[in-house]
This record gives sequence, C-alpha cells and structure tokens, in this order.
Amino acid sequence: MPLKFHIETVGCQMNVLDSELAMAGLIAAGYQPVSAKRYADIVLFNTCSVRQHAEDKIYSALGRLKHWKEQKPGAIIGVMGCMAQNDKEAVFKRAPHVDIVLGPGQLAQLPDLVKAVEQNRERQIAVSLDRISSKNTNPSPLTPSPSSLLPHPSAIKDSFRQFNPQRLLRARGNPHQAMVRIMFGCDKFCSYCIVPGVRGPEQSRPPHEIEAEICQLADQGCLEVTLIGQTVNSYRYKQGERIWRLQDLFAMIENIDGIRRVRFVTSFPRGMTDDLLQAIRDLPKVMPFVHVPAQSGSNAVLKRMKRHYSVEEYRDLLDRIDATIPGAAVTSDFIVGFCGETDDEYRQTVDLVKYGRFKNCFIFKYSERPGTTAAELFNDDVSEAVKKRRNNELLAIQNAISLELNAAMIGQTVEILVEGTSKNATKRQNTEQTTPDLVQIDLPENTPLPCDTVQLTGHTPCDRIVVFDGSPSLVGQILPIKIVQAAPFTLFGELSETQS
Ligand code: 5AD
Ligand code: SF4
Repeated sequence: MPLKFHIETVGCQMNVLDSELAMAGLIAAGYQPVSAKRYADIVLFNTCSVRQHAEDKIYSALGRLKHWKEQKPGAIIGVMGCMAQNDKEAVFKRAPHVDIVLGPGQLAQLPDLVKAVEQNRERQIAVSLDRISSKNTNPSPLTPSPSSLLPHPSAIKDSFRQFNPQRLLRARGNPHQAMVRIMFGCDKFCSYCIVPGVRGPEQSRPPHEIEAEICQLADQGCLEVTLIGQTVNSYRYKQGERIWRLQDLFAMIENIDGIRRVRFVTSFPRGMTDDLLQAIRDLPKVMPFVHVPAQSGSNAVLKRMKRHYSVEEYRDLLDRIDATIPGAAVTSDFIVGFCGETDDEYRQTVDLVKYGRFKNCFIFKYSERPGTTAAELFNDDVSEAVKKRRNNELLAIQNAISLELNAAMIGQTVEILVEGTSKNATKRQNTEQTTPDLVQIDLPENTPLPCDTVQLTGHTPCDRIVVFDGSPSLVGQILPIKIVQAAPFTLFGELSETQS
C-alpha cells in the first residue's frame, strides 16, 4: 500500500506552485495524495514567514498533530517553505515530532527525504539559500526513485535544474490554468520584508525552460498561464548578446498555440517601464491587469521601508497605466502601522488609495520580522489597536471603491474563462438578500433552471471574479457574459444571448 500524503499550504502564489510541484514529485515517487489530513500518513505544511501570525498558526497546527502522530505509528510530518528556511533546526526544538524540515530551494529533495524517514526514522533537514551549492546539501544518501519527476540533486548541472520539473496534470488544481515561475528570490530588500532572507537572491529562469514548460502546459489543455515571481518585472536573462525582459517572454508566449491568456504577478513599481506597459497593451494574450504594491502613500514611510520610489513616482505610474492601457485594472498592497507611522503619514496612504481607485487592495498590519532591517533600525511603536483601526478604515474605503468600480461594469459583456463551479454558490444566495453593499439590476428571480445548470465562476480579462449560471460542460471555455449585478469582490452575470 503506498503511503498517503496531504499538503497544507499557506502564503503566496509561490507556495501554491511549490505545493503543486511537491505533489507532482511525491506522486511520481509512488506516494498517493489525499484530500485531508485525517486520511494521510504523511502531513506536510508549506509555510509562510511574511507575518508573525502566519508562523504562529503553523506552530499551533503542528502542536495539534502531536497526538495524531502518537496514535499513528509510521506517520511523517514535514515543514517546508519559508518558515522552514527561516527557523531551520529550531523547528525541531519547537515541534519535536516534526520529521522533515525543507527550505523552498530544496523542493526537489522532498521524495528522497520522505523515503529516508520512512526507512530509518531519522530526522531530515535540507535548507540552503545557495541554489548552486544546494546540490550538496542533501543529507540523505539514498538513491532517488527512478520515476521521480524532480531530478536527484546529484544530477543537477546548473542552478535551476532542480526547479524545472515536469508539470503533472493530476497535481494541478485546474487543467485550464497554471502558474509558471519565471524567477526566484528577491533583491529589493524592503526594510520590513523577510522574503530576500528566506527565498534568496533574484535569479531569472532561462527563457527556453519557461517556453518548454508553457508548451507542456498547453499540451495538457491549459489556456491561461500566470507568470509568477516576487518582482516579475525585474526578470532579466542574458543569452549571448540578447537580454530577455518580461515583455520578451510575453512576445514568446504569443506564439504558443493553445495559450489564450497571460497574467503576471507581482510587479515592483520601479520596473513598470513604458515599453512594458505598451507590451501589455499591444499583445492580445496579455491581460490588462497589474498588481503593483505601493505599501504606503507617505514619502517618509516609503523611505523607512526602503522602497526606492516616491509617492509622486507611484502616482505617475498610475497615470501612465491609465493613459497607456485604458480600462486596465490595478491592485496594490499596503502596510499600515509601519514603524513610526504618524496619523498624518497614514492619512497620506488614505489619499493614495482614494487616488488610485484600485480594483482591490491587500491591506496588512505591520508585523515585525526578526532579522530584517526594520527590526534592527526602528521600533515597532504603533499600537495594535491603532494598526487595527487603520487597517479596518482603509479596507472600508477600498471596499467602497471596489463596489463602485464593479457596479460600473453592470450592463457590459465581458469574456470569461469558465474555471469551474462556484464554491460559494449557496452562501451567495443566502447573503444576497441581506448584503447592503450589493448593487443589482433585475434578475429573473425564481426562474426555473434546467436541471444540469450549476453556478459557474471565472475571471474577466481585468481579473474580476464573475459568477453565473450555466451547464458544467462550459468549464474550460472562454465565453461572453453580461454583467447584471455587482458586489465589492464579485460580479454576477448571465450567459450572453448568443451563447445560451
Ligand atoms: N508585515 C506586514 N506585511 C508585510 N508584507 C511583507 N512583509 C510584511 C511585514 N513584515 C506584505 C507586503 C507585501 C505582501 C506580500 O505582504 O505588503 O507586498
Ligand atoms: Fe519583500 Fe520588497 Fe521583495 Fe516584495 S519587493 S518580496 S516586499 S523585499
């Protein structure tokens, strides 16, 4: 009987992709994925270190598994991702029942480490930020499973081989969409951020590997790829005399048959050059959507954050996006309560949120991360109560803007890639009557629906979620949907006349 595994993932899109690749590697090595911890012999946590709260939650979850492991001889617990890289051996101290600690750069070694624990019940740790020498960090002397899709580190000839696994359709959440990593790490060293310390230096993947991976995804029926990296618009790969940038990757993907849509996250404000914006406008497959975190609306705070741009430059970027790609959606991240943030500095962030009229924003309370420049240089001196108040207020301002922008879409017909059935279908129906911030025009209520009609979901080109009724057979198609109703985070639509 193959051992069964379950992976719990928290954090950003890098982690979601890493979990998919880890799953592909384990499946190829003969392990069987299961949907919940309670059915598993091997439980893996893919962790995040960006905020303290994320780490606390993982340690609590690990604590809850102590009893489970005692009851289940042979069970294996692993901690992967940024927290593993950050805490290293300390994970074993805080949670002695953990068997494996694996950094994000050592993902390829997971099947070997699991096998090592299975065979000799000894703890395994593989953490390193040096991707080239990481081929020497495998503590396990075992020979790799020949079927493993992730090559054994000893077979690695260059720094990226181990990150270039085959994509396994079975491990992907959705056959029509996939994330593709174009770069690793981050060199920006924003003063509050732990990412450069746990994901290592910026390294761009060779274009031919990215192309091969996207062609493979297209062969598997994938229609939409999202290029991911901490700062994707810093992508830079020197090939002989030629320098590849993000816009060159876009142009390359235009020629890949089968791929209909390209998205990219996350962008750094400084790298949003005019030629990149023009490429987004001119290349039909590239979707008009940019996630470009501002973090603060105050120049003094941006300086303490070491973001290397001013609010004026960020506003100019918003204007350039508007002028170059009319109708493009922009989203942002903001941190409130950063060290020394005064009321006035926070007000400037409110002003920027109002000016930006973002599609949506992710708003975070500052969380001090040991080892970062901010933790060394500044006091985390904004009280939790103030952080909370600023967070809630900014969210409310943003939600009102999101609703206004969504409401303006009522009556428009937009192309949706039908991704699947709506998980919140029933929930939405229950809240529809009571949610005050819902704008709607007449929906044909109580209209009998054909029995094979379900609630479907997908995204507009500018990344808005749309829910509509239709047959499950429409999943995987790109269809025109007329928007009839709007909430801050969701649009509700109907299949356009010609399609129904
Ligand atoms: N505290 C709060 N938020 C943070 N982020 C990064 N580091 C921290 C921190 N120490 C936020 C930033 C980033 C997003 C992914 O997480 O807004 O864009
Ligand atoms: Fe962190 Fe700044 Fe790099 Fe983003 S750009 S990952 S916030 S250091």
